Amino acid sequence: MRVIHTINELRDALAIHRERGFVPTMGNLHDGHLQLVKQARELVGPAGAVVASIFVNRLQFAPHEDFDTYPRTLARDCELLEGAGCDIVFAPSEKELYPEPQGYKVTPPPELADILEGHFRPGFFTGVCTVVHKLFNIVQPTLAVFGKKDYQQLMVLRRMTAQMALPIEIYGGETRRSPEGLALSSRNGYLSEAEKAEALRLSRTLKALIARWQAGERELAVMEADAMQSLRDAGWLPDYVTLRVRHDLSGAVDGQPLVALAAARLGTTRLIDNLEV
Ligand code: PAJ
Repeated sequence: MRVIHTINELRDALAIHRERGFVPTMGNLHDGHLQLVKQARELVGPAGAVVASIFVNRLQFAPHEDFDTYPRTLARDCELLEGAGCDIVFAPSEKELYPEPQGYKVTPPPELADILEGHFRPGFFTGVCTVVHKLFNIVQPTLAVFGKKDYQQLMVLRRMTAQMALPIEIYGGETRRSPEGLALSSRNGYLSEAEKAEALRLSRTLKALIARWQAGERELAVMEADAMQSLRDAGWLPDYVTLRVRHDLSGAVDGQPLVALAAARLGTTRLIDNLEV
């Protein structure tokens, strides 16, 4: 496996590979990320190249968010990536990826990107789309794998790829969880042991919401408000708990594949999770 820091060197290294599977990350890797790398390996086959990028993208962090403290663990990440079958790690410096302030940006449409995560993190999906579009131009992958853990991100990037006619197949990877059911996240490292146990309530709340829908209840506003209140009663600060249509994240209706999504703050840590119905 090679670790490459510059765009030119990466382009040279990739020139001999036609099939390229790409997994963009911000590092501090866990089994969820590694599963995406393994999925990319299977999809491109033994002759293809698997590229993972590690870059903490300033553009997608708001000023009050954790850009400065986001854990940076490159050496360990590279060991893990090698074990997962990665061929090339692309870890550019900020100067390499943004040699001048990134004035040209990719702004996703508001109906998909200003709701849910985008509502509570204004500009977040513009930051994500801009860096992923740029990374796509650099790596020129034939396929890319994103986790369903960040469900809205996957939908936004799928639509960007289609609408910009990028010749890249987008795959969703299943959310990897702890044996107890906590979705793995780099931000779980911010949680105390007691908070880690409490954090399981988020997926349980989603399950309860789905159970009410499956039992035939259709008063979505009431069901969602109840779910938010149950989190508040346990000391959380919920941003949203909601049931949506999977592909465009509009309000749940019968006859469409659905997904339940939640975001809430536990102590100082903001957690997100979702479950497909
Ligand atoms: P990051 O949070 O590092 O996540 C990188 C990829 O890993 C994303 O596709 C994310 O959905 C996936 N992932 C995270 N936790 C997962 C889990 N428990 N199971 C399965 N997949 C999981 O998402 C980003 O970085 C950034 O926004 C990025 C796309 C790299 C752009 O900067």
